[in-house]
Amino acid sequence: MTVYSKKLFRNDSLEHRIARAICDAGCLPRKEFFEAWEVAKRVRRRMRGGHIYDLAAGHGVVAAILLLLDDTSPGATCVDLQRPASQAKVLAALEAEWPRLVGRITYIEGDLDDVRPAPGDLVVSVHACRDLTDRVLAVAVRAGCRVAVLPCCHDLKRCKAGAYKGWMEPTLAVDVARVVRMELAGYDVTTGSIPAAITPKNRLLLACPPSPPRPSPPPSARDITDA
Ligand SMILES: C[S@@+](CC[C@H](N)C(=O)[O-])C[C@H]1O[C@@H](n2cnc3c(N)ncnc32)[C@H](O)[C@@H]1O
Repeated sequence: MTVYSKKLFRNDSLEHRIARAICDAGCLPRKEFFEAWEVAKRVRRRMRGGHIYDLAAGHGVVAAILLLLDDTSPGATCVDLQRPASQAKVLAALEAEWPRLVGRITYIEGDLDDVRPAPGDLVVSVHACRDLTDRVLAVAVRAGCRVAVLPCCHDLKRCKAGAYKGWMEPTLAVDVARVVRMELAGYDVTTGSIPAAITPKNRLLLACPPSPPRPSPPPSARDITDA
């Protein structure tokens, strides 16, 4: 996205305003923006608040958009083995337009397996390749927190497809097995997709941990009298 692409984003919607700011940075591939936007808006329809962990973050655009869509999240941590050289430029362009982002997004160069979110946090990962998506899901299950993933590059040797692969296309079997694993871990799972025109790797998995059991209310005076 460059200053020349700005003419594609003319209206006053948040999507176009974010796109124009990113065009000013002049370094993000257009596909990365559209994927992040489509994922973030679907995540926010179901998952509000919480500190955001953007794992295998790349430029961390999804974290920034999640914060812009819901300011009740206090901040975001982006984690990637290698921080792209242009990440600071993209973030600076967004901060110039939305100063409320300043100081709320931190970037850690490291392995996503080392991240320890809290139960109220939100883990998100767009196109964590091969079995990296399984590792993202494992991070969330260990923490007991919400998670949203858009998997890609299914490695049929490393990703478990279970028995489903006899009935369906193998990469779909891998994602179905992921849904089943999350459900067995007690999660409430929602599946969806972003437009295939943006990416063919467009399956979205959203999962919320079981809510803790609610304590039973104290007996009312009437219950006691009736007893
Ligand atoms: C396909 S890119 C996706 C980047 C970004 N989420 C996006 O949508 O553009 C996958 C990213 O995973 C990162 N990665 C690979 N192994 C990792 C690991 N063990 N921990 C954290 N990040 C990792 C890579 O450096 C790369 O940036």
